[in-house]
Amino acid sequence: MFVYNFFRVDLGLFASPGTSFGKDMNTQGHDGVDDYLQKVDLFFSLIFKRILSVQRYPIWLYRLTEDYKTESKCWELSSGMSKRLLQERKLHPRQTELQQQGDNFGRKPALNFADNLFDEAENNPSLTEEHLLNHIDTIIAAGHDTTANAVSNLLLMLAIHQDVQEAVYQEVMSVCPDKTKPVTTEETNGLVYTEMVCKETLRLFPVAPLLARKSVTDVKLDEKHTIPAGSCVCICVYTMHREPSIWGPEPTKFNPDHFLPEKVANRHPYAYIPFSGGPRNCIGIRYAWLSMKILIAHLVRNYRFKTSLRMEDLDVKFAIMMRITNGCMVSIEER
Ligand code: HEM
Repeated sequence: MFVYNFFRVDLGLFASPGTSFGKDMNTQGHDGVDDYLQKVDLFFSLIFKRILSVQRYPIWLYRLTEDYKTESKCWELSSGMSKRLLQERKLHPRQTELQQQGDNFGRKPALNFADNLFDEAENNPSLTEEHLLNHIDTIIAAGHDTTANAVSNLLLMLAIHQDVQEAVYQEVMSVCPDKTKPVTTEETNGLVYTEMVCKETLRLFPVAPLLARKSVTDVKLDEKHTIPAGSCVCICVYTMHREPSIWGPEPTKFNPDHFLPEKVANRHPYAYIPFSGGPRNCIGIRYAWLSMKILIAHLVRNYRFKTSLRMEDLDVKFAIMMRITNGCMVSIEER
């Protein structure tokens, strides 16, 4: 048995090498590569700090601060990751480690994100190098740490709520009991309770706790209140997901039954928006649900998770993304 903190980082790598870039991204700074994730964390924290202090808004003033220098340094180091990937691709056209070896189950994976992107670029001259770098940065930032963060929070919830973990385990063993076989997309359709548990985790701990939009026209809310065109509007998903008028008298209690079909049918569709909503919602939503369920099924059928943390011990930090600051202090036992 061993205790593992900062699980999110490793899970992110576990979840993504075959599907995103076809390689281990070394985001924790192994092999002398810069500690990418720490730099991204600090970068997001500084942006969030700036959002909350109006005096830092004028860029000429912000440029005079130490935080600006740190933020620029972090950006330089973290954007180095996409430049390195592009450079490597130029030196070694399409032959990724995983494609050569196959995955843990001996399957040859489909083309990963990077291969698709670079193939597209070869046939589409309007995709410049800058576009490619931006796409890579978007996928790393939007797709990698979000899922890893969500899954590590989910493991913590399972470790705290042993009864829920047992129910997930029973469901997984009834749907996909053979540990030597990968969990298929079809099988995930049967993981109904597991999905409810994923949803409840993202309700209490939405990875994106604040959504921001600029209103392009005046928006009349009622007779007295209008949001003027040009205003910045923030929706606090975190508080909305804990609002008693929506979630009942115990909104902070972890209760996957919030996602029973009859409960969902009685709620406004936008009462629950961990992936945002409307035309600019998350483009990775389907992939995120799928990868979370597959990952949890693999983990739960092989391991049991425990923790000494209780719900009331947990603290969170907002920094564009939201993290549980206690870390993912879970112990892992082989089943
Ligand atoms: C649990 C995992 C994830 C969560 C909670 C999440 C959440 C979100 C949220 C809330 C937004 C909207 C931000 C806004 O409205 O301002 C968003 C946007 C986005 N997400 Fe995700 N996401 C996840 C996974 C992914 C994955 C796996 C990918 C890619 C494979 C991805 C790619 C994107 C992109 C590209 C956008 C920007 C879309 C646009 O602006 O049109 N996300 N995500």
